[in-house]
Amino acid sequence: MIHPLKPKELHGSLVNLRAVLETDSEQLFDSYFQSPEVARFLSRAPHGSVSQTQAVLQKWCEWGTRVNKSNFGWVISDAKSDCPVGVLYLMHDGVAAEVHYGIGVPFWNQGYASEAVEMATNWLLSHDAVQSVWTAVDTENIKTRRVLEKAGFEHDGVLANWAILPAFSEKTARDAIRYRRLRS
Ligand SMILES: CC(C)(COP(=O)(O)OP(=O)(O)OC[C@H]1O[C@@H](n2cnc3c(N)ncnc32)[C@H](O)[C@@H]1OP(=O)(O)O)[C@@H](O)C(=O)NCCC(=O)NCCS
Repeated sequence: MIHPLKPKELHGSLVNLRAVLETDSEQLFDSYFQSPEVARFLSRAPHGSVSQTQAVLQKWCEWGTRVNKSNFGWVISDAKSDCPVGVLYLMHDGVAAEVHYGIGVPFWNQGYASEAVEMATNWLLSHDAVQSVWTAVDTENIKTRRVLEKAGFEHDGVLANWAILPAFSEKTARDAIRYRRLRS
């Protein structure tokens, strides 16, 4: 049996990682989920309604119903105002944790993703069961490659034909780069 990870609030100087609040859906729909710019390198299309965002956040980020499972998400919020600025989701298979994350467009290039990814990764690797943290990134997603490199991740090979991205083509799967940080 996979030993479950218990969600925990994490606090940084720029961002906090916390459970979802009812008031987050509208703000995250506006800044993040409905944006074609955000969805460019993601395997989903932009959301069409706040209720779609609400359903996704409930599925990913509600800790109450997830404490005995190994997958959960945090809302990334501004450390000063607690305004929701993005999301970070993880899947844990007992040894390796896979992370996915994003930040709303008005909040880009302020260091939010870098701090959130580093904080979540440090926390994950503080568990004895977790030996590595990894993610797959589209080869052209330069910004997120920079975020991962700053958080101590290393290039760990190319995943050929990894994902179909609706922004490019519904038919052709694109290559991704696997990034991984090992327990030191
Ligand atoms: C990728 C993403 C998470 C970055 O979030 P962010 O909060 O803007 O990231 P940060 O501010 O922490 O860091 C961005 C870094 O990229 C750099 N950067 C920005 N544009 C760049 C470009 N065109 N080329 C190279 N580097 C670039 C910034 O300078 C910064 O590095 P620095 O701190 O060394 O200067 C955000 O753009 C996003 O949500 N994109 C859409 C969803 C997505 O692609 N998620 C990742 C899926 S794996």
